[in-house]
Amino acid sequence: MKGSTKEEPVGGEAKATEKVVPKADMDTIVRLIEDIKVPTRRESAFSGLCQQKEYYPDLALYLWHSVGTISALLQEIISLYPHLSPPNLTATATNNVCNVLTLLQSLASHNETRSLFLNAHIPLFLYPFLNTISKSKSFEYLRLTSLGVIGSLVKADDAAVIKFLLQTEIIPLCLRIMERGTDLSKIVATFILQKIISDGEGLNYICETAERFFAVSTVLHTLVKQQIKSPNTRLLKHIVRCYLKLAENSRANAGLRDNFPEELKDQAIIQSLDDPTRHQYDQFILLLTSGNSFGISERPPGASPK
Ligand code: TRP
Repeated sequence: MKGSTKEEPVGGEAKATEKVVPKADMDTIVRLIEDIKVPTRRESAFSGLCQQKEYYPDLALYLWHSVGTISALLQEIISLYPHLSPPNLTATATNNVCNVLTLLQSLASHNETRSLFLNAHIPLFLYPFLNTISKSKSFEYLRLTSLGVIGSLVKADDAAVIKFLLQTEIIPLCLRIMERGTDLSKIVATFILQKIISDGEGLNYICETAERFFAVSTVLHTLVKQQIKSPNTRLLKHIVRCYLKLAENSRANAGLRDNFPEELKDQAIIQSLDDPTRHQYDQFILLLTSGNSFGISERPPGASPK
């Protein structure tokens, strides 16, 4: 699964409007990075760099190690905050910040900048965007692109990423987007939750208190109910994986057995699953019926059974 961009919902989602441009030479890249420091050229520099992102896999390194670049990126992000509430985003300003977010996504994806990116707490700058609820196009675009950055972080399957995210409020933010977002946002938010649940520490964290577990299981259940009318195979894939991983925790397993999401047995849903997901679905059902007797991980030592 790792590394297959087709399988995982991160990157490229929000960029459908971008044209394919030819590769620029290295001098141009250097000039674009220099241009970031010139306020009047900044916006077109961001857009130019975004268009070259795929051609320069080490763009993240140039961005990180050039003087003043990261602070300029953060300045652009912060400059949008006053327009979030009351909502008054212009398409141009939104587009510019989405370009900035796309550049941040390259820092999140690159193996040599990811930990620097985390240590600088840069993901936190995106949370105000994830925390918005306006359904307008600009807000949706901002949320989806911000989710894409977090999605790229978790896609790396790096325990340090999950450790970082667990110290923040990312889970409630994802849960709300899973409940209210567009299909595409729901997919990326559920993917992020899936990656957190798939990490041992993340699973323990979610199952540590009844409140957390119920918050997660309630939203998953809501999503399942929504799938009956129009099943979305990509979304269901992540939902089923979340359930399967939850069922590996003994207390979550008991919780899911007591409160089984019956709609998951709906034929329209089952038939829409792809083969690997159908297999995981069967494993999930098996884990619930076999309960605790199959070497399911126990509650972590010291965690109180709230
Ligand atoms: N700080 C909150 C907590 O620790 C974060 C939170 C809210 C949360 N809802 C959640 C964490 C649901 C996990 C699941 O509870």
